[in-house]
Amino acid sequence: MSIVLPDTDATIAAGSRLASLLRAGDLVVLTGGLGAGKTVLTRGIGSALGVRGEVTSPTFVIARVHPSLVGGPELVHVDAYRLGGTAELDDLDLEAELEQAVTVVEWGAGLVEGLTDDRLEVTLTPDPVTEERTMEVRGIGPRWADVDIAAVLTTEDEGGLP
Ligand SMILES: Nc1ncnc2c1ncn2[C@@H]1O[C@H](COP(=O)(O)OP(=O)(O)OP(=O)(O)O)[C@@H](O)[C@H]1O
Ligand SMILES: [Mg+2]
Repeated sequence: MSIVLPDTDATIAAGSRLASLLRAGDLVVLTGGLGAGKTVLTRGIGSALGVRGEVTSPTFVIARVHPSLVGGPELVHVDAYRLGGTAELDDLDLEAELEQAVTVVEWGAGLVEGLTDDRLEVTLTPDPVTEERTMEVRGIGPRWADVDIAAVLTTEDEGGLP
């Protein structure tokens, strides 16, 4: 399914909505060019999960763990842009964290699929003229087979959103 995100706030809100679906063990793979809004979306996920620390795109850190402040899963935020390949991915040892975390990987397509059987694939496509992004979400594997992603993303109920 896909929705249109007119501005940064809409992308944050979409991240919050996605977060309501996420639980420990989930892997989210974010695709989209530089500045597409992957980190902004992750910020929305992190704030709705109630994790500590600001979700940013640090220059030297490839993976950052944000512990939960509310007794929920931690957020492991990975920026794989500078990762050389699967050998360096293995060095991060994401498997160790995966079971108790929501793992979100920017630039993870083609790299992290082997980590689990299931994943949420999110693609952000900017409009060349406006600030609009089109977000496409696809659930892969049995975990997502019966989840109505569209219902969560398009609901009119704003409860709990920033
Ligand atoms: N609709 C929108 N959704 C998200 N971000 C938007 C939107 N419109 C404008 N922006 C701006 O675009 C930028 C997106 O930056 P962000 O760091 O999230 O991109 P990114 O996809 O993580 O890039 P990178 O690949 O470099 O990590 C932000 O400065 C944000 O304010
Ligand atoms: Mg980023």
